[in-house]
Amino acid sequence: MTIQLSAPIVNPLREGLRLERTPKPAILTIFGASGDLTERKLIPALYDLARERRLPPEFTVVGFARRPYSDEEFRERLKEGVARYSRNKLGNVWENFARGIYYFQGDLEDPASYQQLGEFLGKLDRERGTQGNRAFYLATAPSYFKPIIENLGLAGLAGTVRNTRVVIEKPFGHDLASAQSLNQMVQSVFQEKQVYRIDHYLGKETVQNILVFRFANAIFEPLWNHRYIDHVQITVAETVGVENRGPYYDEAGGALRDMIQNHLMQMLALTAMEPPAAFEADTVRDEKVKVLRATTVARDSNGFKAVRGQYLDGWIAGEPVSAYRSEPRVRPGAKTGTYITARFDINNWRWKGVPFYLRTGKRMPKRVSEIALQFKDVPHQMFPSMVASQVSPNILVMRIQPDEGISLRIEAKRPAPDIALRSVNMDFRYGETFEVASPEAYERLLLDCLLGDQTLFTRADEVEAAWRIVMPLIHQWDNEETNDLTFYEAGSWGPTEASKLMDTGRRWRRL
Ligand SMILES: NC(=O)c1ccc[n+]([C@@H]2O[C@H](COP(=O)([O-])OP(=O)(O)OC[C@H]3O[C@@H](n4cnc5c(N)ncnc54)[C@H](OP(=O)(O)O)[C@@H]3O)[C@@H](O)[C@H]2O)c1
Repeated sequence: MTIQLSAPIVNPLREGLRLERTPKPAILTIFGASGDLTERKLIPALYDLARERRLPPEFTVVGFARRPYSDEEFRERLKEGVARYSRNKLGNVWENFARGIYYFQGDLEDPASYQQLGEFLGKLDRERGTQGNRAFYLATAPSYFKPIIENLGLAGLAGTVRNTRVVIEKPFGHDLASAQSLNQMVQSVFQEKQVYRIDHYLGKETVQNILVFRFANAIFEPLWNHRYIDHVQITVAETVGVENRGPYYDEAGGALRDMIQNHLMQMLALTAMEPPAAFEADTVRDEKVKVLRATTVARDSNGFKAVRGQYLDGWIAGEPVSAYRSEPRVRPGAKTGTYITARFDINNWRWKGVPFYLRTGKRMPKRVSEIALQFKDVPHQMFPSMVASQVSPNILVMRIQPDEGISLRIEAKRPAPDIALRSVNMDFRYGETFEVASPEAYERLLLDCLLGDQTLFTRADEVEAAWRIVMPLIHQWDNEETNDLTFYEAGSWGPTEASKLMDTGRRWRRL
């Protein structure tokens, strides 16, 4: 018998005309369940879903890790996490939800653990009515991804497209070759339709809204091309440093691999892709792959149009903070880039000649993520030169976080007996308009996985296309002899070299 995990049902009384979706009963096994991600993100997200009655009563969680916990101890630990990190208060729902959480002590590298896990899941199926439906979540260090997949296969736990899914956390590979090798390994055990590669940015409401904004409004699409858009700026700025992740961050290769290859490339793809024929997993992802394949790092006679920087001592919000190289457990003299900016070109009809400038950095003055599309100047200036000099180009900004929303900068006449101009913003703010807190990215992603909807997960060819784009920079910067690392004061907007990357007449937005 084959069992389908998802079953769309309409509940018009509770949801108006919205299609509500509830997954079939299932067991979610989390590998690495004693770790930070499970405590801070996964269980609070599942708890929030349970509170909103998005999960079936049979839904079951099995946490897999090495340290000895009883079910009760594990639940207590997770309860504290929910109290701290859930967007809802800890309430009565917890007791009911927690009864479906179990702990399984095992070693990720020991095949016998997976045999025992299989037996345990079978027992839970019988006791809790989960009908053999399973999702395996790899919330471990990436070095464990291959052994887990291999061992699931050996233990006969790979199941079918209908009843088994596997969720893989980032980073998916550390370069193109390792991503390809991981894909091959994963696909030797699971079918691609069973695989859910996480980029949690895609779970953010405002990132998904890029698609709604572009493709549910008729007025933008005619302007969305090289005829009207001068350039695009994508910024993801963080105020935090590497905190305790120093060695991981260093080994992972800094902001290029940690941010540009995944989150910023996803933002670029959603902004630049062609309209898909339908809002379906493969149609949407086909278009993303197409645009990523057309994208390259720009270069001129001096080399790639890219700058990497690293933070020095500085100040954030009135507090002194130390340089990257003084962070705990970071190698002295590490050349890791904590700030990256680069110009990318998209070589197709729509975007020919429109630079996409991407920047991301740690220890910036503000936490902000946004996509800004700057329009071209008006074709002819009819105002006298004094006034014409005040005319600024229109800018459409999609704010991902914080203060989620969309704004359009337009020119307006200032109230006065003469002609004087000022730029003003038309502003849409999520918080004000909808008056509800947006769900956390992991809520959406976990629910979609249980429903069998892969639209917001990265497909094998997509993750490889994104790696292919950044490989030239990886080759250049992995070479320890390369001497182009720049520095910036913590609390500043990055190294001065970043502004030189901008082509004539353009500059980074002040945020
Ligand atoms: N933390 C975040 O906010 C975050 C955000 C985005 C992505 N991620 C990704 O999510 C993944 C997990 O991150 P994390 O921060 O949760 O990692 P973590 O805190 O290091 O947790 C990993 C867990 O794996 C378990 N483990 C390690 N070796 C094991 C073995 N041989 N057998 C069984 N269990 C073993 C450890 O538990 P025991 O010691 O009990 O065995 C540990 O609790 C990583 O890929 C990370 O890049 C994390």
